[in-house]
Amino acid sequence: MELVLTEWASALLRWLHVVAAMAWIGSSFYFIHLDLSLKPRPGPPDGVKGEAWQVHGGGFYQIVKYLVAPARMPDELTWFKWESYATWLSGFGLLVVVYYLNADLFLIDRAVLDLTVPQAAGLAFVTLLVAWLAYEGLCRCPLGRHETALALVGFVFLVALTWGFTQVFSGRGALTQIGALIGTIMVANVFVIIIPNQRKTVAALVEGRTPDPRWGELGKQRSIHNNYLTLPVVFLMLSNHYPLVFATRWNWLIVAIVLLIGPVIRHFYNTRHAGKGDPWWTWAVAAAGVAAIVWLSMAGPRDGATGALPAPPRFAEVGEVIGSRCTMCHARQPVWAGIAAAPKDLRLDEPELIRRHARLIDLQAVRTHAMPPGNVTEMTTQERALLAAWLAAGAPGE
Ligand code: HEC
Repeated sequence: MELVLTEWASALLRWLHVVAAMAWIGSSFYFIHLDLSLKPRPGPPDGVKGEAWQVHGGGFYQIVKYLVAPARMPDELTWFKWESYATWLSGFGLLVVVYYLNADLFLIDRAVLDLTVPQAAGLAFVTLLVAWLAYEGLCRCPLGRHETALALVGFVFLVALTWGFTQVFSGRGALTQIGALIGTIMVANVFVIIIPNQRKTVAALVEGRTPDPRWGELGKQRSIHNNYLTLPVVFLMLSNHYPLVFATRWNWLIVAIVLLIGPVIRHFYNTRHAGKGDPWWTWAVAAAGVAAIVWLSMAGPRDGATGALPAPPRFAEVGEVIGSRCTMCHARQPVWAGIAAAPKDLRLDEPELIRRHARLIDLQAVRTHAMPPGNVTEMTTQERALLAAWLAAGAPGE
């Protein structure tokens, strides 16, 4: 029963998480586009920065932006915040259900560091908080006033953390952890800086005081950070489906490059939407970055075998390896505690099934160390080399 409930908790949280994130990212892309595309408008009312005309859903919209606020506060004001809060709450719930409760499979890799479940989950949670506090510190210290310097230090900070996580968690756990960390920073930007500062501005206006322009500037700075972090965070959240990304030797370097590709692509759209031309070079840089990560992902797993492959094994030997390392989970009736049915309906308990899934075995257990998860069944480097030799010989059934 507990198994069914956690499985459904995971499915429903994921559903909510994806929908909330779509709403959040959608509205944030929309407002950035709108903000950049405003055209100056002459004449009253006072305080108007510009306006934009848009067409959507069968009607025309004329949008006017007031730089600080209109002379009179409207009775009704729509705030955009629950998209982001809901994204974090559902994402954190999912993190607990998938990674903290299943730390043995998805967060811990005993070949990397021999952690217990409470240690791994505790460490993941504490580093999430500490890293966010460190980011706050960076933004608030004098460095926070120099955008380029802050961006550089922020980049090094995130890459160093990614590397650090790959030294304590499984590859999959490490990449999800850095994704969760960036997501937390982004939501905290909304919760701790952007919305409270907007509230202060509104309160000041209602009381007839002049709002401090610094409140708006700080909010804008965090909103720019969020803009540039959006594409990398989505990549990181999807990365756990792709073992070539998370379970290969240079996984942390791949993340570093993605942290550059994302902002470069955003730069293209930001420039274009501001009507300042089309910096096509950004796509050349992004393409070079993608080529680099594809190439890095071919380096094999961190502790992979080096040197020439052994002689192609007999199929019976392949069956033995799979039988002793995989079928406790990937069988009609798994015997691994907590695995009720063959994960992803993938069974490897018959010779024909092993042959049919040769490509998947290659991807998950030879080119990468994604499987067995956290290497729980202690598959050896020699066994992986044996599978590699079998695959190189065309995965024969004899
Ligand atoms: C402890 C249980 C366990 C063991 C042992 C195990 N797996 Fe898995 N396997 C899983 C789980 C859980 C998933 C689903 C992962 C996810 O949700 O992303 C999975 C997914 C897979 C997939 C991905 C299927 C797909 O369509 O995406 C492949 C392929 C795979 N395993 C192959 C193997 C091979 C090969 C071995 C042995 C070397 C192995 N597994 C050992 C639990 C296990």
